[in-house]
Amino acid sequence: MIVAVIGKGGVGKTTVSALLLRRLLESNETPVLAIDADPSNCLGPALGIAAGPTLADMRETLRENGRPSSMSSAEWLALRAEEAIVECAGFDLLTMGRPEGKGCYCYVNNLIRDHLDRLSRSYRHVLLDCEAGLEHLSRRTSGRPDVLVCVTNRSRMGAETIRRSLDLYADLNGGFPARVDLLLNQFDEGEALASEMAAIASGAAAPFTRVFIVPRDSEVESFESAGKSLLELSCASPAPAALGAWEIGS
Ligand SMILES: Nc1ncnc2c1ncn2[C@@H]1O[C@H](COP(=O)(O)OP(=O)(O)O)[C@@H](O)[C@H]1O
Ligand SMILES: [Mg+2]
Repeated sequence: MIVAVIGKGGVGKTTVSALLLRRLLESNETPVLAIDADPSNCLGPALGIAAGPTLADMRETLRENGRPSSMSSAEWLALRAEEAIVECAGFDLLTMGRPEGKGCYCYVNNLIRDHLDRLSRSYRHVLLDCEAGLEHLSRRTSGRPDVLVCVTNRSRMGAETIRRSLDLYADLNGGFPARVDLLLNQFDEGEALASEMAAIASGAAAPFTRVFIVPRDSEVESFESAGKSLLELSCASPAPAALGAWEIGS
């Protein structure tokens, strides 16, 4: 399954991606390929993993210097892309890196997409922490997701961004994936504002498959400040506990 976590910048996509990765690991839904597709490269730090080379570094090298004559561009990319993968217990992390510069990237983007398609087949699931503008989905540098996890926080713009992203998604793909979850981040259970935001986010789109409310969690904040992996949060912490019922197969 490909799970894509989408939403406006700052609403909690990276935090949620780390918490969903936790769920996959807890349920032995492994191996997982976690892809940090946001140029701000935050998923690594949220998982306690130091920044390394990115797929964008390889892309720029290929564009600037070409490849050795002994191999095809696809072979070269497959070989070098290994350097952008960090192997961890139960999952690998791939960091996409900075956005494209000037010029045409169609050729390398096609190579990257084919490479990611092939790479994804060696994993049980792929979890994408997307960049704010749905860029990877619209440029199709990643496969089509089976599960969209839409994240918003208390800001109205966050909910409106979800609605617009879903509209864009439906236009590009002729409909929605079978499963679209809504995750209301930093709300308390039963808050009226949460239902209001859910109504804004769904717009004319089909109803969300499941809605989760994740409270503000001071442990998430202190782990973030200390640079500790969110995978090490206690399962009794409010945020991971709120996602305890999130399952890939339901
Ligand atoms: N439920 C939560 N409780 C406490 N802090 C949170 C929660 N969700 C997100 N944050 C904090 O909010 C900030 C933005 O979250 P982040 O996941 O980086 O957003 P995004 O990836 O959408 O830009 C981070 O500092 C993160 O630690
Ligand atoms: Mg992020």
